[in-house]
Amino acid sequence: MVRTKKVLNIGIDLGTSRSVIACDNGMRTFVPSYVGYPKDAVSRKMVGKDIVFGDEAIRYRLALDLYRPFDKGQLKYTDVGDNDPEENAKAKRVARELLKHLVGLATEEEEDMEGMTIRGVLGAPALASKKNKRNLLDVADGVLDDTMIVSEPFAVAYGLDLFNSALIIDIGAGTVDLCRMSGTIPTEKDQITTLNAGDHIDKVFLDLIKEKYEDVDFTVAMIKRFKEENAFISKQDEKVFIELPVRGKPVSYDVTKELKAACMTIVPEIVEGVKKLVASFDPEFQRGLKRNVILAGGGSQMVGLRKQIEDYMKQELGYGRVTCVEEPLYAGANGALKLCKDMPDEYWDELKSANKKDQTRESHETVTSIASKQKV
Ligand SMILES: Nc1ncnc2c1ncn2[C@@H]1O[C@H](COP(=O)(O)OP(=O)(O)OP(=O)(O)O)[C@@H](O)[C@H]1O
Ligand SMILES: [Mg+2]
Repeated sequence: MVRTKKVLNIGIDLGTSRSVIACDNGMRTFVPSYVGYPKDAVSRKMVGKDIVFGDEAIRYRLALDLYRPFDKGQLKYTDVGDNDPEENAKAKRVARELLKHLVGLATEEEEDMEGMTIRGVLGAPALASKKNKRNLLDVADGVLDDTMIVSEPFAVAYGLDLFNSALIIDIGAGTVDLCRMSGTIPTEKDQITTLNAGDHIDKVFLDLIKEKYEDVDFTVAMIKRFKEENAFISKQDEKVFIELPVRGKPVSYDVTKELKAACMTIVPEIVEGVKKLVASFDPEFQRGLKRNVILAGGGSQMVGLRKQIEDYMKQELGYGRVTCVEEPLYAGANGALKLCKDMPDEYWDELKSANKKDQTRESHETVTSIASKQKV
């Protein structure tokens, strides 16, 4: 059947820290994953709307009930909410609003939406259960016409055309996802998720500063920004100073040691994961895997991390080559978009009925066959 319908493809990476979209109409953007609702009539008047997102929500946070819908793995990789259906339903409602907002940004410049099909490929962490994937499908219900859920590190690999012998390490805010690619859709044994990621660094950094400088008054948002501008784990000679208020007056503090120590806390689990995934791989292909370790996600921008992992691999595994993706924040959404575009119409039709019947396996088989076609 020849189809004439207009399709908008969107790669979507709903993150703990920020949610990213990449669309085939050229739109590409991200929104910090915050959703806020005015607390009362006065705040409603000040904010001027019933719901606010991203940076605007952070700016008005004192006047809002503020939500981070994917915080602590809610919906995406924990069973938080299983015992509290009301809370779970609310998290989904908030997440759906965020997704609607993103789709709104994607279609902002579309003049004719009549009859347009909106297709989205959504990333889920390696650790996501069937129930978590169902949550994401529920979130997309009524916002996207067609939805496919794929493993986040797989989306990164797909975007980089790395189907064979590659190890992707996606360092986000809530999780670090490690995934070994070996020509097929990764299964459970190919993936490791650790829960010490960017948010964990922020928490350790905050605790260390509080311990050293008891009088200072600051929030996690302040030091998160500072971390993003200064994070490092290499042997830097330069000292890093942060300005923090003490009884209202800004004072400069040396936090070189604390920042490095906080950043270092996520490294042992990453290198342990690399070792496990390499050691349990087919020995003939291990060298290929070691040659192709790819860092993605916001946390991959830490200065010195790449070399730290490479040095460790040389020491423990005899060899290692680690590279950082060019666009750490967009790598997942870019790959998801590519997958979205590569899927022929008939696969989407199959997927639609599979999603309805809750047969997530079928969608995996679908992607495997697409990926193998792309390889030739
Ligand atoms: N330059 C930087 N140096 C160190 N960390 C950074 C830098 N830039 C961003 N980050 C951190 O990266 C994390 C966000 O990365 P990313 O946007 O990939 O996460 P996410 O996709 O929202 O989270 P998740 O994948 O866990 O749901 C945050 O913890 C942020 O503070
Ligand atoms: Mg992410």
